[in-house]
Amino acid sequence: MKRRIAVLTSGGDAPGMNPAIRAAVRTGIARDLEVFGVRHGYTGLIAGDFIHLGAREVGGIIDRGGTMLGTSRCPAFLTDEGQHSAVQQLAGRGITGLIVIGGNGSQHGSLALSERGVAVVGIASTIDNDLAGSEVTLGATTALDVALEAISRLRVTASAHGRVFLVEVMGRACGYLALMAGIAGGAEAIVIPEAEESPEDVAIAIQEAYQRGKSHAIVVVAEGARHNADALARHFTEHAERLNFELRVTKLGHVQRGGSPGAFDRLSATLLGATAVERLCGGAHGILLGLAGGQVTTNALGDAVRTRKPLEPQWLHLAHVLAR
Ligand code: ADP
Ligand code: F6P
Repeated sequence: MKRRIAVLTSGGDAPGMNPAIRAAVRTGIARDLEVFGVRHGYTGLIAGDFIHLGAREVGGIIDRGGTMLGTSRCPAFLTDEGQHSAVQQLAGRGITGLIVIGGNGSQHGSLALSERGVAVVGIASTIDNDLAGSEVTLGATTALDVALEAISRLRVTASAHGRVFLVEVMGRACGYLALMAGIAGGAEAIVIPEAEESPEDVAIAIQEAYQRGKSHAIVVVAEGARHNADALARHFTEHAERLNFELRVTKLGHVQRGGSPGAFDRLSATLLGATAVERLCGGAHGILLGLAGGQVTTNALGDAVRTRKPLEPQWLHLAHVLAR
């Protein structure tokens, strides 16, 4: 009998998940493995919702965002019972290797399975880019491009009216997308959880921008910041008379997740999907694959999920210097 492996996607979908699935399946076939897909992340793993994946089943997905397997947030998998059932489902089908494509929470799940004896290889995939050991995670660059296009359009209308726009971007507990979108989008101010500024500091930055002759102000705010777009808008509205600027709020939300993966995410996903299979064939157990400097990085799952990933100080510094 051929060796059997399975692949699943979990947590927030990210552009790049589909090309990673495709590469894993086709590399598996080239390595004479039988490859299964688990539908809807850990929910499907617990329920035994598996499908056999051949080369044709993963055709036509390289340019599609989302995930052909479906994904989920699965509270049941946090329990001992849920994890036990997941292990049983794999064992019952003779599946001896699992690839988990997902973000921080999902890789905590990978670690739990690996501690229960399953050979797991994780692939760092989240638009939040908050997994340690990977300079950039699958999906983050495509999501960034979506945010940048929106910011360019907002600047046009902001400038026409002389308005301030608060643009809220995703990032559950981290400011990567906001920081990078703010720098690359030419924002006048950036608000992120890693370097919180008070609403009054932001108001001063806006007023100084107008004093320097700007016809608008774009403030990029991470949803995970203590002073998110709603909190800032509340403060500015309460002090509207004194601050004297006209304000609009745009939350980009899930629009950032649904883009077609860009060149970088397609190529990286292909490399990571193929490498994950090779690593399973080589006997790997409990590792997370990511990317740094164009190369695949390998970290122990435990190290990756327990380490908080810092933002690059050089970008934080540039954000201040360039907002003039
Ligand atoms: P993401 O992977 O995008 O960060 P979540 O944080 O929602 O998304 O995690 C996805 C799923 O991973 C959760 O719904 C849960 O099933 C599983 N998971 C999250 N944290 C843990 C944990 N500490 N232990 C085991 N499984 C976890
Ligand atoms: O995948 C990460 C993420 O997009 C975060 O940026 C965001 O906070 C969260 O997922 C949104 O989750 P949901 O899709 O469950 O609303």
